[in-house]
Amino acid sequence: MIKLAPSILSADFARLGEQIDEVARAGADYIHVDVMDGHFVPNISIGVPVVASIRRVTSLPLDVHLMIEHPERYISDFVKAGADIITVHVEASHHLLGTIKAIKEEGARAGVSLNPPTPLSAVDEFIHDVDLVLVMSVNPGFGGQSFIPETLPKIENMRKIIDNRKPGIELEVDGGINADNAPDIVEAGADVLAVGNSVFRAEEGISGAIQRLREATLEKP
Ligand code: DX5
Ligand code: ZN
Repeated sequence: MIKLAPSILSADFARLGEQIDEVARAGADYIHVDVMDGHFVPNISIGVPVVASIRRVTSLPLDVHLMIEHPERYISDFVKAGADIITVHVEASHHLLGTIKAIKEEGARAGVSLNPPTPLSAVDEFIHDVDLVLVMSVNPGFGGQSFIPETLPKIENMRKIIDNRKPGIELEVDGGINADNAPDIVEAGADVLAVGNSVFRAEEGISGAIQRLREATLEKP
């Protein structure tokens, strides 16, 4: 079954604990936490203290997506705060292999992420070292953007690379996903969908939105 990772960037931060509880009860698999530094991306979001607070209110795995420069400086702090998966951008780290190893030595699962213009060849040499590849389907920085359809063939190609070279790595897709486009993204080979606006800002409410995404992504018999 596809994993759903609601992105709290689109949540109401004044009611964060409550909303995390709601996605958990509706069957979310991970909590996706978008960390932005105003340098790697133009936006600033949240950091280590928020991860530590969330850790106290949920047992779901925390899927921490670092959109920051020099991620290697912060790995230990995020793992101590309770991150289960830490994903760093290939565009942001000059010492990617060292950063991946540091994440694993600290005891978390390691992911690498690629922006839409970055070719898949950028993850080639790291494929045996990571647990997850996150393909961005919007340019990172903001929730609520539209899915870039040109990323679908990229997701398909990444799926093939994973199946050929290291089956078992999770393929996560992040940005602009909703119940309408989710079936195509799953068909292209995604294992994990990060979903922000279409869950936390859904007219039908959080649990209705999760249910709709779940139904949209059920594998056809
Ligand atoms: C974008 C973030 C995404 C984003 C997803 O920079 O990495 O996780 O919050 O939100 P939606 O689903 O609204 O695009
Ligand atoms: Zn994200």
